[in-house]
Amino acid sequence: MPPTETVPAPDTDASGDVPSEAVAPLMRGLMVLRRLTDADGVLSLSELERITGLARSTVDRVTGTLARMGYVRLDGRDVFLAPRLMDLGNAYLAALGLPGLLGGQADALADALDESVSLAVADGDGIRFVHQATRRRAMSLSFRIGDLLPAERTAPGAVLAAEWTEAEWTRWRTRRAADPRASGFPAVPPGEGPDEKEFAARAARAGERGWALDDQLIEPGLVALALPVRDADGAVVCVASVVSHTSRHTADSLREAMLPRLRAAVADWERLLSGEDRETAARPQAGPRPAHPQAGPRDLAPRPPGLADWTHASKQELGRGFVESLARGLTVLTAFGEGRAALSLSAVAEATGLARATARRALITLEHLGYVYAEGRLFRLTPQVLALGYPYLSRLPLPQIAAPHLAELSRRVHDSASLAVLAGHDVRYTARVATRRIMSVHITVGTRFPAHATSLGRVMLADLPPDARAAWLADIEPRALTPHTLTSVGELAAVLERVREQGYALVDEELEQGLRSISVPVRDRAGAVVAAVNVAMHSSRRTVEETVADVLPELRATAARIEDDLRTAGRFTPVPEA
Ligand code: PHB
Repeated sequence: MPPTETVPAPDTDASGDVPSEAVAPLMRGLMVLRRLTDADGVLSLSELERITGLARSTVDRVTGTLARMGYVRLDGRDVFLAPRLMDLGNAYLAALGLPGLLGGQADALADALDESVSLAVADGDGIRFVHQATRRRAMSLSFRIGDLLPAERTAPGAVLAAEWTEAEWTRWRTRRAADPRASGFPAVPPGEGPDEKEFAARAARAGERGWALDDQLIEPGLVALALPVRDADGAVVCVASVVSHTSRHTADSLREAMLPRLRAAVADWERLLSGEDRETAARPQAGPRPAHPQAGPRDLAPRPPGLADWTHASKQELGRGFVESLARGLTVLTAFGEGRAALSLSAVAEATGLARATARRALITLEHLGYVYAEGRLFRLTPQVLALGYPYLSRLPLPQIAAPHLAELSRRVHDSASLAVLAGHDVRYTARVATRRIMSVHITVGTRFPAHATSLGRVMLADLPPDARAAWLADIEPRALTPHTLTSVGELAAVLERVREQGYALVDEELEQGLRSISVPVRDRAGAVVAAVNVAMHSSRRTVEETVADVLPELRATAARIEDDLRTAGRFTPVPEA
């Protein structure tokens, strides 16, 4: 390895002296992922070089390695965060257990209250969101899962600070002195926020009353009411907030309207939390915690399935630039998960297949940077793991997830590829990669076509339950768009049945003369069809048989890749449709 690889990278995430055993390439990789997250998902290679202070050759190796792992995508001179990176945040959220246990409850509460509801945990002297049940409203700004906010400018922060030790107040003072305008919190507009006297008074009141208000501390218009959620031992595991806007509520009217209902919901959740025979993984990082005997390595959930695919590749396949120590270090984070919140060094080594010494150095590095903390002989992930891409990626809509896969498909088959959703009687295109071949139909994102005459529409219709399919067919009057368009409802029903059996649809010249299209469905985690992908071509390009033999496998592989990303992205939060 060239000598530059042993020099620790400058990284604002690190505090204090870098341990001599720290893995420098891992530190660099984490820094690159953090800068990309703070830049909202994309930076050019030269911007990365400038922001990180790393040599260009190092940036190339690090981003090449991250790309090989599927954590970023390289497109020309730009580096994008990729959905697969959410595996790391998912490992934290799964280990935490809270989003799995309370996320659905928070969603239901948001529906009932018709206001946004969020769950946040302590992260150092800030709060970090682990769940957001967001109401769609013009006037509502909302934070994203993984966003970190300064405690003094939020309602949850006052709730948590009510129980801060003197050491925790000192940590807060130190941060405020170093960064008075909270510029280290990319999710919030910079500002001073309340001074110590005011914040301490709010924290004390929160302690007495058991709730806190945020009256536009972060943003004009934003008001919130927060309550602690406690485990059976009375420790605060997270803070639940109802968030509104001054166009609907003042801070006081929000409290009047919502406090009883939020209290009742939280009481239910606390029963759920204490009733569960779960390890106390739900404890956010807030200073040292007592060890929990039941969290020992003996009763661990089975190790996570398989290792990242790079581990099976030979050195030659990985290429000369692949930085194995970075890849190994990141893989350590994926050893954690549901039922695997607290792991010993041996458990980490066993789950990842890494040598103990390698796993140990990775853990030392991750602990130094604040992604892991040690509790006796056991290690846990911290909420900071969410800072590795989650805020940006958790809002990435399906068309953006699909776009690079469509581009790859189009490159391989030399024809246009698209993604569409069902919209009433139509299909609506949500992503498209066109080739330069001329086609008379002009299709862009937003274009609609009658669903019955398109292969996209047919694969989505074929998946409807029989009743819904019959109702849909009964509701349309299929129009002939070419002499080939099927217009008999009975024939369409039979075609849909066949499509359902074969898993794809092929439509030849029914939408437009000379145009053929073949489509397969895209399914979410639950197996529901959420969209369809197609390849469209001139009918003269291939025979129908060639289309099925040559294009269908590519199309299926593309759908599988999109579904893979969807599974990762949708594990703890819904993926926006557009
Ligand atoms: C939220 O967006 O969930 C939020 C914002 C500010 C708060 C509390 C919650 O004080």
